[in-house]
Amino acid sequence: MCGIVGAVAQRNIVPVLLEGLKRLEYRGYDSCGIAVHAEGQLQRARSTQRVAELEKQLQAAHLQGFTGIAHTRWATHGAPATHNAHPHFSGLGKGNARIALVHNGIIENHDELRTELQAKGYVFESQTDTEVIAHLIDYLYAGDLFVAVQQAIQRLRGAYAIAVLCQQEPHRLIGARHGSPLVIGLGVNETFLASDALALAGTTDQIMYLEDGDVADLQLGKVWLADRYGQSVERPVHTVHVHTGAADLGPYRHYMQKEIFEQPRAVGDTLQDINSINAELFGDQAYQVFKTIDRVLILACGTSYYAGLTAKYWIESLARIPVNVEIASEYRYRDSVPDPRTLVVTISQSGETADTLAALKHARSLGMEHTLTICNVATSAMVRECKLAYITRAGVEIGVASTKAFTTQLTALFLLTLALAQVKEQLSAEQEADYLKSLRHLPTAIAAVLALEPQVIDWADRFASKENALFLGRGMHFPIAMEGALKLKEISYIHAEGYPAGELKHGPLALVTEAMPVVTIAPRDELLEKLKSNMEEVHARGGELYVFADADTRISSSEKIHVIRMPEHYGKLSPILHTVTLQLLAYHVACARGTDVDKPRNLAKSVTVE
Ligand code: F6R
Repeated sequence: MCGIVGAVAQRNIVPVLLEGLKRLEYRGYDSCGIAVHAEGQLQRARSTQRVAELEKQLQAAHLQGFTGIAHTRWATHGAPATHNAHPHFSGLGKGNARIALVHNGIIENHDELRTELQAKGYVFESQTDTEVIAHLIDYLYAGDLFVAVQQAIQRLRGAYAIAVLCQQEPHRLIGARHGSPLVIGLGVNETFLASDALALAGTTDQIMYLEDGDVADLQLGKVWLADRYGQSVERPVHTVHVHTGAADLGPYRHYMQKEIFEQPRAVGDTLQDINSINAELFGDQAYQVFKTIDRVLILACGTSYYAGLTAKYWIESLARIPVNVEIASEYRYRDSVPDPRTLVVTISQSGETADTLAALKHARSLGMEHTLTICNVATSAMVRECKLAYITRAGVEIGVASTKAFTTQLTALFLLTLALAQVKEQLSAEQEADYLKSLRHLPTAIAAVLALEPQVIDWADRFASKENALFLGRGMHFPIAMEGALKLKEISYIHAEGYPAGELKHGPLALVTEAMPVVTIAPRDELLEKLKSNMEEVHARGGELYVFADADTRISSSEKIHVIRMPEHYGKLSPILHTVTLQLLAYHVACARGTDVDKPRNLAKSVTVE
């Protein structure tokens, strides 16, 4: 999704800005642009192509400057077109542009502001909500950019992180945030700004995280901050080592495939040689918090939400604590009944998902202060805002469709289940030892599932011509069926739905024809015989079943029942293994259909707008 980079230096900062944009590319974008102070003017280049194209454009134009801002845009208001790409300029009517601005987020009152500014004579050249901010700052400008930005943000409703340049103040860059992340990077006699510390990796590791309402004044080698009340404020400087080493594809065709195959390592790293279960794995205060709470509320979006749904089965069954799992974008606006004795768990790969962050804040505003996050980015807003945290060690995930982030989330959630069970005196020493043994063996078990890839490729060719698919699972494999369907639709664009198999006859069975492949997760668990009855319902109506069946399930292949035999049933951790085959299926179907696997249309990696 949208990304921001900015710099004030005494050297040409165009390479720094381009490098920052390249680091943010994996998040998904549809246009990009740069503006710099050059020869006394604000000059810009914008493109609806990749950052590499923008780079060629800049080289051809010999564009250089000491102060600049850059942006990758993921369209919300206005089509992905050059005139909608950031940076936006204002002051065009007065000769050269006076203000240049980039923005992440959404301004909700942009219509009202647009009408007001048009009445003052401003002419809009884009359909974006962003352009209103540029004109508003220009309108308010009276010789001090910092003051103009402070005044302008008083008028904005919605979420924003902005970076602003003024033609009349060539060594100054102003940043402000509310609801969207923004960090300051400190160099030697130079200062930087970005929507994510990752964009500044290799440039500086000295990072300050802005708080909501902060306005930052960046000048050569110095930064001054004001908080939401306009008071001077200091934010701590962190040394941040961002792991960027994901770029090499090695023998793989796509990052998604590489990331699927990295799962034994990612899960192993997430387990960190844990030899015993204790609450402190989740933070110093975790024991006290776990002791206090008597229910769990899980908040997340998309794939992370499915991880939460799986955890509900685990936590309720093993720790005997009631669990509610909610889609963050629903919870934040729902009139729910809060209970202060709730452990609020957010799950997020990026830790910056706007809806999940807002849901977390909403829960806290309702008096629920026991917060924990399962997150893949230690420096993210989610980790900073929660009392307790467990950092998954998936490493950077480049493919937009989440794979290793999901299985590491499940791994962490299983550890959380055990820790809660222990504190609630539901876990015997023998059970603890058994589960730890299974967890330690998990990377090897995943590797055995990955070896099934050639069989999955055979199936993928048959799926390539389909336009619809159903995914069935029962019990704790039902969320995995939904995750399998999500993966398939995201990257192959085949319409897919995940259902609890028992629901089939309550509606979706009407869809079952020869043209509808029905993917079934068949673990050898206590629901197997029930699941087999559901499969019969499909079979009797001419439906074609594609079954991932554990060993010893006695499900055999026939003309319309295709079976891939999984290894031994893996008990409570079985959802993790069944996830891997569904990832492989989605991946190879997408390859067979020739889609852009790592950057599926319309999707972004980190969803920082509502
Ligand atoms: C799907 C996918 C998304 C994310 C969702 C939440 O493959 O990746 O559904 O899971 O956007 O993102 P995070 O986990 O970063 O909060």
